[in-house]
Amino acid sequence: MLKSKKKNRTKLILALDYKNISSALYILNNINPQDCKIKIGLEMFIRFGPKFVQKVQNLGFDVFLDLKFFDIPNTVAKAVKSSADLGVWMISLHAIGGEIMLQAAKNAIEIFKKDSPILIAVTILTSFNDKSLSNLNFNNSIRSYVLNLSRIAKDCGMDGIVCPGTEVLNIKKNIGLDLKLITPGIRTPNYTKDDQKQTITLKQAKEYGINYIVIGRPITASTNPLTILRKILKKL
Ligand code: C5P
Repeated sequence: MLKSKKKNRTKLILALDYKNISSALYILNNINPQDCKIKIGLEMFIRFGPKFVQKVQNLGFDVFLDLKFFDIPNTVAKAVKSSADLGVWMISLHAIGGEIMLQAAKNAIEIFKKDSPILIAVTILTSFNDKSLSNLNFNNSIRSYVLNLSRIAKDCGMDGIVCPGTEVLNIKKNIGLDLKLITPGIRTPNYTKDDQKQTITLKQAKEYGINYIVIGRPITASTNPLTILRKILKKL
């Protein structure tokens, strides 16, 4: 009983967005690979490349390579296969790339069988709200786009989706429970939202049963990242 409760709890993915390796290593060398997964995104991947991914994995951490692929199906399929060759744990791509792109990505990693990385589709970025979508002439609500893109992601065999925390309960109600739910934009009420527009608190993330929360700047931009990180882990 206790074990399965632990298994289903909300887990942390630390967004390791730094401009230098030493800041990243300071954190990695002082935490346990069981404590959290590590997200390597555009900033560190562009600066330090696959060698840095390898370094983090060699320290024992599972890596979420968050490059959010969005291109023609053939290009995305090859990018996903190249990412999987690095041995990463999770890979992201944009659901808005459409069914053919998502299926091509899925097919590209079929050869890895049970060692396939987890493929997750980004629905609508947490930095968007209804107004920023309507500025692009997308005149439906975030809610309807997220739901539609989640359905497409599920139908194309994605393992999970990235979505604003505010949409999680609606997705569970309408699409079911078998997609892994990954949510960035986690903020305490008194912390700056930065560029995030759809935010929820850690407490809400747990209540909603989100599988993985992604947290970056509240930890990485703090003067004492380890203290903040440990506080968050304690609350999960
Ligand atoms: O710093 P912060 O906690 O806002 O970190 C959010 C991280 O999650 C960033 O690395 C960002 O790239 C990523 N992310 C996001 N929104 C998504 C998907 C990923 O903010 N929909």
